[in-house]
Amino acid sequence: MMFKKINKTAWVSYVRLLKYCAPYKKRLILALLAMVVSALFGIAPPWLIKNVVDDVLIRKQMNILNLIAIGVVVLYMFKAVFGYAHMYLMTWVGQKVVIDIRLELYDHTQRLSLATLYSRRSGEFLSRITNDVATLQNILASVVVDFVVQGSTFIGIICFLFFINWKLTVATFTIIPLAVIVIDSASSKLRKVGTTIQERLAMVAAIAQEAVSSIRIVRSFATEEDEFDRFEAASKKHFSALMKGTQIRGVLEGLVEIILIFALAVILWLGGRDVIKGQLTAGELLAFLTYLGLLVQPIRILSRVVSNIQQGVASADRVFEILDEDNDVKMIDNPVMLSNMSGRVTFNDVWFRYGKNNWVLRGLDFEIVSGEKVAIVGGTGAGKSTLADLVMRFYDSQKGNIYIDGVNIKDLDLKTYRRQIGVVPQDPVLMKGTLAYNIGYGFPGVKDSDLVNAAKIAGIYDFIQTLRDKFDTEVGERGITLSGGQRQRIAIARAVVRDPKILIMDEATSSLDALVEQQVQEAMENAMEGRTSIVIAHRLSTIRNADRIIVLDDGKVAEQGKHEELIALEGHYYRLFNASNSEHNEEHDV
Ligand SMILES: Nc1ncnc2c1ncn2[C@@H]1O[C@H](COP(=O)(O)OP(=O)(O)O)[C@@H](O)[C@H]1O
Ligand SMILES: [Mg+2]
Repeated sequence: MMFKKINKTAWVSYVRLLKYCAPYKKRLILALLAMVVSALFGIAPPWLIKNVVDDVLIRKQMNILNLIAIGVVVLYMFKAVFGYAHMYLMTWVGQKVVIDIRLELYDHTQRLSLATLYSRRSGEFLSRITNDVATLQNILASVVVDFVVQGSTFIGIICFLFFINWKLTVATFTIIPLAVIVIDSASSKLRKVGTTIQERLAMVAAIAQEAVSSIRIVRSFATEEDEFDRFEAASKKHFSALMKGTQIRGVLEGLVEIILIFALAVILWLGGRDVIKGQLTAGELLAFLTYLGLLVQPIRILSRVVSNIQQGVASADRVFEILDEDNDVKMIDNPVMLSNMSGRVTFNDVWFRYGKNNWVLRGLDFEIVSGEKVAIVGGTGAGKSTLADLVMRFYDSQKGNIYIDGVNIKDLDLKTYRRQIGVVPQDPVLMKGTLAYNIGYGFPGVKDSDLVNAAKIAGIYDFIQTLRDKFDTEVGERGITLSGGQRQRIAIARAVVRDPKILIMDEATSSLDALVEQQVQEAMENAMEGRTSIVIAHRLSTIRNADRIIVLDDGKVAEQGKHEELIALEGHYYRLFNASNSEHNEEHDV
């Protein structure tokens, strides 16, 4: 009856959550047994009240008094032992499940397609992986523990009540359903508020996270106050939802208690009448009333179980929502292990768009032969980075196919394939750790000689030698701060350390100033030696030496050829080149 308000989908989520307990069945069953036993030990003592009153106080029997005194202590000792067992086992299972789900969620998130990941705030994932998963521990504990402990206490008490006097018991339970109706009507409100509270807290966390990650923007635009206002508004919203939930819960609990006290008064009157008539002993009435008093707690807690489940299910749903998110970039069964590819890249009438937006690529056709150095140019938003992402298979094209060494990219084993690609992004991210760790990132058995080689190619070796700790120098927060050019060189070293067959450089130098760019340019030329290279460049002055230049326009290959040929055409490239040159000159002028 109480669970009527937990709808079907909530049950589905809950059952799904319980399935995570399956590996720990044995411990869970032991915990449940310990719970029931300790609950029963907890409700036995009031029964002794009957004997205290009837046998000790009224009939004055000393031996029963002794027995009762010892009995109470022994009972509570057993209760304590079993209570410990249940608490320990239940926490063990609960936390184990939480960790299992957290690991699964993390692993799943790692595999999600970029399209899915970018469609959500990064703080949202964080909040789901920490807060929501932690809430699941509560719901498991709350439901399994409260339900079993309070449920068995409840049933045990009812049995005692019937045993003492069934008529009084029946009378009592015509009044109790009143309480249940009140609980029922309020629980739907609680469910809604529970969801709102969680969502608003997640929003608070997301905003806080954003504030840290975009601190530079906030500072430079001097929008600290606006950001604070936004954060404050979100916090206030969370607060008001929280207080609303507290209000509803408070009223609910008060009502339940009043109703129970009312019932108690009626029972006292009915029972007292029976004692006066001699149909009930004084001890029995006292035991009966004590049990009724004990009944308040399980009812109160059981009524809270509903709201706890509802809050927990809201969290579970958010976790499952991500777990159910499919990676649209799927690998086929038995993929092709192209472990020693030559690096030929073929685009065959490739069409691509993000979501339902306009087409970014509209029938892209070209082939890059093994070892060729190709530059991709085009205006901002022409789809150059998208093209690079497609070569990495971060996304799948909607129409047309991409082939690597003649094998459809969709048939490739992605790990084997991606490990043979080196990427130098525009704004490389250095991980927390040493230079060696950063250069050798994702290359487990990297040898010192590999690191040295890569550093030499990237033109950063001499610099590293000047550092006290050489390759063991820490970078990032606690370590040295590297300049943009140095970071870019580390990124180049990282890309070439495993001797990739394909090298992709997406505007790798566009955040550097022209002078540093020229120096890093040399490192790039070195890195490209003997590999298929795809260079995306914003400043065209850097790509004159490419074997071929492919000009993207309107999602298609507009022109291709060598620098001189394209200049002679006086078409797209010619215009881009002139624009780029004047920009370059301006920089020099400044
Ligand atoms: N993750 C994304 N979601 C939606 N649209 C995107 C995404 N990434 C890029 N775009 C859009 O696709 C187009 C091509 O982008 P991009 O490949 O980054 O261009 P380029 O690197 O040539 O400047 C742009 O219009 C851009 O706004
Ligand atoms: Mg780009």
